[in-house]
Amino acid sequence: MIFDDDERIVTGDLIEEDTEIESGLRPRQFSNYIGQDKVKENLQIYIKAALDRKEALDHVLLYGPPGLGKTTLAGVIANEMGVNLRITSGPAIEKAGDLAAILTNLSQHDILFIDEIHRMSRAVEEILYPAMEDFALDIIIGKGPSAKSIRLDLPKFTLIGATTRAGNLSAPLRDRFGVISRLELYSPDDLIKIITRSASILNVEIDEEGAREIAMRSRGTPRIANRFLKRVRDFAEVKYNGKITKEIADLALSLMEVDNKGLDMTDSKMIMTMIKSFGGGPVGLDTIAASIGEDTNTIEDVYEPYLMQLGFISRTPRGRIVMPPAYEHFNIPIPYKE
Ligand code: ADE
Repeated sequence: MIFDDDERIVTGDLIEEDTEIESGLRPRQFSNYIGQDKVKENLQIYIKAALDRKEALDHVLLYGPPGLGKTTLAGVIANEMGVNLRITSGPAIEKAGDLAAILTNLSQHDILFIDEIHRMSRAVEEILYPAMEDFALDIIIGKGPSAKSIRLDLPKFTLIGATTRAGNLSAPLRDRFGVISRLELYSPDDLIKIITRSASILNVEIDEEGAREIAMRSRGTPRIANRFLKRVRDFAEVKYNGKITKEIADLALSLMEVDNKGLDMTDSKMIMTMIKSFGGGPVGLDTIAASIGEDTNTIEDVYEPYLMQLGFISRTPRGRIVMPPAYEHFNIPIPYKE
């Protein structure tokens, strides 16, 4: 059976119900943005320096698994800089002219956020080079020998690019970012704070153990935590008196087939296949992908970061291996290897 990541309740990708949830919950200032301390600390310094010099912030590349708050962070940066934020994405910019139109409409020091920047076409990317480096747009007028190139000045703007994989960016594009920050999966404690904050904004009653239960199953990802919070709230309102406790969170999430570590059927299938068909590894990424009918990129970007954070699998030069905590989780004796 092939699992489609879009259909997983534990996907870090944005799904329709998230937009409504997230819009009200997004922090607007660094003081409300929980976690990612190193990234925050660096950005705050660069922002202060840019503001003191009355300059645009350097271009910023944010990378890491989906759902960790890259768009939210871009919003916080724009707010702290006191500038406008224009949001688009790599796949949405179809032609070079689309990007040219966006760039010429920016104001001084504005922020342009391009999500999934690794999915931009080559032609669009080439417009971006002079725009980022010289704040200029090179336009070619006419065709053949009489074609002329003219250069238009652009306002000094900041590009914030977001990607799940920095390795997929071309070197010339990557080199044009002054700040490159990697977002990490959130710790359960940070997720508890995020869930508690969201619950108070949504007027949901939740106790500490209820928040912990949701946090432990949210795969280090605030988007998943907020999605779960809303589903568990519905459950608590319909079946109980509305208050979220550990028992209610546990019941609701178990019904959604998310286990007590946040694994769903797809993760379990991947680990069980590695154990049952490949003796726990080492097994190559392509082999795992083919055996479970998944895409190698999805495995690397979505499943593996969380399974590695749990210590369930490990990457070695010879392939992936299943680690003892995974055997314990699935109640399987650890095989003895010479
Ligand atoms: N919602 C999503 N991400 C968040 C974060 N890092 N801090 C607070 N609320 C959030």
